[in-house]
Amino acid sequence: MRIGMPLTKFLYEEQRKCPNCTGNFTDLFTDLARGAKIISRDVNRAGLINILGSAEQTNIQGEDVQKLDLIANDALITTMESGGHLAGMASEENENIIPIPDEFPKGDYILLFDPLDGSSNIDVNISVGTIFSILKKKTTNDDAELSDFLQPGGEQVCAGYFLYGSSTMLVYTTGCGVHGFTLDPSVGEFLLSHENIQVPEQGSIYSLNESNSNKWHDSTYNFIKKAKARGCKARYVGSLVADFHRNLLKGGVFLYPADKETNKGKLRLLYEANPMAFIIEQAGGAASSGTENIMDINPKDLHQRTPLIIGSKLDVEEAVQCCKAEAELTS
Ligand code: AHG
Ligand code: MN
Ligand code: MN
Repeated sequence: MRIGMPLTKFLYEEQRKCPNCTGNFTDLFTDLARGAKIISRDVNRAGLINILGSAEQTNIQGEDVQKLDLIANDALITTMESGGHLAGMASEENENIIPIPDEFPKGDYILLFDPLDGSSNIDVNISVGTIFSILKKKTTNDDAELSDFLQPGGEQVCAGYFLYGSSTMLVYTTGCGVHGFTLDPSVGEFLLSHENIQVPEQGSIYSLNESNSNKWHDSTYNFIKKAKARGCKARYVGSLVADFHRNLLKGGVFLYPADKETNKGKLRLLYEANPMAFIIEQAGGAASSGTENIMDINPKDLHQRTPLIIGSKLDVEEAVQCCKAEAELTS
């Protein structure tokens, strides 16, 4: 019975399975989990310590930054920069790559993250999360260069998210399945609660912001019409991590598609779409931009956006088929 196994024990078991593992990843991941515990602590008492609301700043995304966005960002950077396993970091909240200060040793890993996903939900106590993606540095200098971050999603060595919901969970993959851990605050440990998560091949839930329907391409209309005809329910939280996690466990599809206003979509490729795509593919699902697999996209910019259709395999295939049919009609 492995339920309840502490994350550190699980990581050491996984480490022992690969002969040339050094333990660096295990140490890095343990630091990351500690950073998330700090964020979880602050999220769970946000209303008491005056950290709700706007920070009165606009980030590189042109979005209003919430106080908790910055607190989560600082918690991750401070926790991760001194661990000795990173050559650099990138965050949704930082315009440029974040170098590791020279006072700390450097390593071969690259960490990208969305420190707080679903910011619009913070003040109303709806689930938010942290999304992360880990790559290996490809360049030879100690300090990471931009090209180390602009790798396609297929190069990720690890991806995951922390969900600050009714419980705080960690869900991650290193390419050997998808595993979920639940934080037990009384012992301060993430304990195994969902081993080898597999997404149902077809779901009965679709998640997208229907207030955008006046901008939808016909392909989106057609897919939603098919989903409704199949008796699917609409569920949309407005936090990618929360919508994704529900669909991962129950089956379903999340869409933030290209529309008539922009073919870029809203969500960011490197630290939202790619990590979620790695997870969903490892769980037996699929992730597409509507025209190509998310993890095949060659990144050009740290904060580039992509349309995203992600979840149960058959649902994503049906949505992509609608996109292809429209493309054929309009070509
Ligand atoms: P973030 O809070 O990191 O900016 O991400 C918000 C994203 C994602 O979490 C969610 O799915 C989407 O924005 C919701 O967008 P809309 O409010 O436009 O539906
Ligand atoms: Mn986000
Ligand atoms: Mn964010």
